[in-house]
Amino acid sequence: MIRSNVVLVGFMGTGKSTVGTLAAARLGWSFVDSDAWIVQKSGMSIPELFAERGEAEFRRLETEAIRELLSGKGCVLATGGGAVLSAENRELMKEGGLVVALTASKEAIIERVQGDTNRPLLQGGVEERVTALLEARKGAYDFAEVKIDTERLSPEEVAERIVAAIQ
Ligand code: S3P
Repeated sequence: MIRSNVVLVGFMGTGKSTVGTLAAARLGWSFVDSDAWIVQKSGMSIPELFAERGEAEFRRLETEAIRELLSGKGCVLATGGGAVLSAENRELMKEGGLVVALTASKEAIIERVQGDTNRPLLQGGVEERVTALLEARKGAYDFAEVKIDTERLSPEEVAERIVAAIQ
């Protein structure tokens, strides 16, 4: 049976958006992103939203985004790295499609997110922040049915594995 959607989860910098775009193109599905939905809905950038309305409001919108974006069929959804922390979100994801976790080592993640100003949780010392968040989120992505290590594969190869996993 072909599952209705693909849901990509994983820490910041594991390549959810890049790989999701490629996998969607291969499947002939649409690519959607919960952060992009939130930006459109709130009319604010993610850093503005965190600063002006707080993380709790961002998380509320994130659940709304996941619910809405998984209500149909035929999409590849890239979720934010912290979306898995909510049990409600995890349920919505499991019900909504095949959950695929992308992984990478701490070193690779730090390299990929270095200098990024669009991720509020990483401001004030990327290495320290990534280290602390990885520790705090240990095991948080384990509920995914499929896990793909993105470090020794090209984004195209990761996308290929996702397509294979859903068929
Ligand atoms: C977050 C990850 C970000 C974004 C927000 C919070 C997190 O998404 O949702 O900055 O809590 O890990 P990416 O994983 O796409 O960077």
